[in-house]
Amino acid sequence: MLIHSSSQLLTLAGGPQRGKKLGALGIIEKGAVVVRDEKIVAVGATDELKNAYPDEPTLDAGGGVLMPGFVDPHTHLIWAGDRANEFEMKMSGMEYLDILAAGGGIISTVKATRTASIEMLIAQTRPRLLKMFANGTTTAEAKTGYGLQTSTELRLLKALLALDDESPLDLAITFLGAHAIAPEYKDNPQGYVDEVVNTMLPTLKEWWQTHAPRLPLPFVDVFCETGAFSREQSRQVLVKAKDLGFPLKIHADEFDNIGGAALAAELGAASADHLVKTSDADILALAKSDTVAVSLPCTPFGLAEKDYTPAKKIIAADALFALATDCNPGTSWNESMQFVIALACRYMKLTPAQAIAATTINSAHAIRRADTIGSIEVGKQADMLILSVTDYRQLGYRYGTNLVKQVIKRGHVYSVDVGYYRTA
Ligand code: NIG
Ligand code: FE
Repeated sequence: MLIHSSSQLLTLAGGPQRGKKLGALGIIEKGAVVVRDEKIVAVGATDELKNAYPDEPTLDAGGGVLMPGFVDPHTHLIWAGDRANEFEMKMSGMEYLDILAAGGGIISTVKATRTASIEMLIAQTRPRLLKMFANGTTTAEAKTGYGLQTSTELRLLKALLALDDESPLDLAITFLGAHAIAPEYKDNPQGYVDEVVNTMLPTLKEWWQTHAPRLPLPFVDVFCETGAFSREQSRQVLVKAKDLGFPLKIHADEFDNIGGAALAAELGAASADHLVKTSDADILALAKSDTVAVSLPCTPFGLAEKDYTPAKKIIAADALFALATDCNPGTSWNESMQFVIALACRYMKLTPAQAIAATTINSAHAIRRADTIGSIEVGKQADMLILSVTDYRQLGYRYGTNLVKQVIKRGHVYSVDVGYYRTA
């Protein structure tokens, strides 16, 4: 298939963009792409490729922007229920970590999730997945973490594998058994850390090898935060995970700086995420590493807080920077990477070009898939978007609306810009 007549083809070619190199879109004016068997086989100008591939079936991009599909590298996609009541409490002045300490927050979603069957979990998660896809996300990371006990955590993994199978979107799965101290261990937090380290992680490894033998091992993540897991406890979880061969991620500096980002860099984690209260020393540690700094601007926005990731500092220090939704029921129920871009431009002063690189090639690197997705280059998976606008800067400029007209996933074309129609 020859996709032709775009206004701008954003290739994002050349690999992950470190620090000051962020924002190189690799634009081909009136660009075109040839796709065969789920892969990109040619990239160039429309005239050139029309001549080179005269018999290819065609798809007219209609003068829209053609770009890589968004890669969302941080979501808590799977949970049961909602926390609209807590949103009201927060807007009335109560703090997120105080709600958690009082047995609400993550723990209230854990209660709802533990009692949900796998069918219910899949049914409640599917619409979120479809919204992501319709808004242009072609690959998303998805974490467990609302089970906090082996049986429920494994049920969440099973549900995620089923959703990965049934949906066009690809999932990169993460085990977040260390998301909060399980309620059973309220008075013995170290007991839960020991349970994660000595029981859950080895069980996970065995389970994965039987249930998903063809997939690479999932990431292991930990919520390194005051009121969740201390730096030392986070280290115990991540070191054990690393010994077992799992790739690593971390939640760091969302509310307090306790050194999680430097820990991630030291252990060679794929990413360190949130990074709101990150110190200069931690930024330096990230900059010297291949750990991607993943910022989640929907989270401070969702909590109505004023501080965002010091993105400019991170970029100036020459670290790898990416963006994600953090889609979850407590702090950020948002499925759209386009909204993430809009917030990143306004609150972290990124240019649209920087935000686009941070949601494609760099976010692909944050889940260690930049060799197959995140850019439009020969040999890569054909995951692309056709936008309904002619200039890439419309991303960021406009928000609260969907600028994606068509999603191309593994070479298959999905129309999402259906408008509306009257049924009666
Ligand atoms: O990334 N910080 C920890 N986890 C989520 C919030 C989860 C929740 O509140 O349910 C986050 O913000
Ligand atoms: Fe998160």
